[in-house]
Amino acid sequence: MNKLLIAGGAALVIAAGVFAMQTGQAPAETTPQPPEQGAPLANVTVPETLSQRAQLGQVAFEATCAACHGENAVGKMGFGPPLVHKVYEPSHHGDMAFVIAAERGVRQHHWPFGDMPPQQGLTRADMAGIITYVRELQRANGIN
Ligand code: HEC
Repeated sequence: MNKLLIAGGAALVIAAGVFAMQTGQAPAETTPQPPEQGAPLANVTVPETLSQRAQLGQVAFEATCAACHGENAVGKMGFGPPLVHKVYEPSHHGDMAFVIAAERGVRQHHWPFGDMPPQQGLTRADMAGIITYVRELQRANGIN
C-alpha cells in the first residue's frame, strides 16, 4: 500500500517536471514577440500647441475613437491602427475618408484588426474637429 503511494507520488512529480519543461519560458534569443494586445503601434510626438478646433476635436476623438485608435492616435494592437501613419496622410486618405469611415464604418483591408463599425452620435462639427486634430498630430510627425 505504502509502496503504491510512493510510486504514485513519484509519477506525479515526474509529470509535473515534464509539464514545467514544456511550458517553461523560451530562451531569450528566440524571435522578438509582437506587441501585446492594446500596446501602442506608433511613436507620436504631440505638438506643443493645438488649434482651438483641434482641441475640441481631441475631446471628441478621446470619447469616440481612442478606444480603438489609441490616445493621440498611436493605434492599439488588436483594436485599431495608428492614424498618425503614412497610410493616412492627406493624399492617401483625404478628409472625406474620415467622414465616410465614421458614417459607414470601414471593412478590414489595411490591418488585421477586423472591421471598424460606424460611429454614432457625431455632429459635422465633431468630425471637422477630429480631422483637424488628426492632421495637426500628423504634421507634427512629418506626415503631410
Ligand atoms: C471599434 C474600433 C474602432 C473605433 C471606435 C474607431 N475605429 Fe477607425 N478603424 C478601426 C479599424 C480596425 C480600422 C482599420 C481598417 C483596415 O484598414 O483594416 C479603422 C480605420 C479607420 C480609418 C481609415 C479608413 C480607410 O478608408 O481606410 C479612419 C479614417 C478611421 N478609422 C477613423 C476613425 C475615427 C475618426 C473614429 C472616431 C470617430 C474611429 N475611427 C473609431 C477601428 C475603429
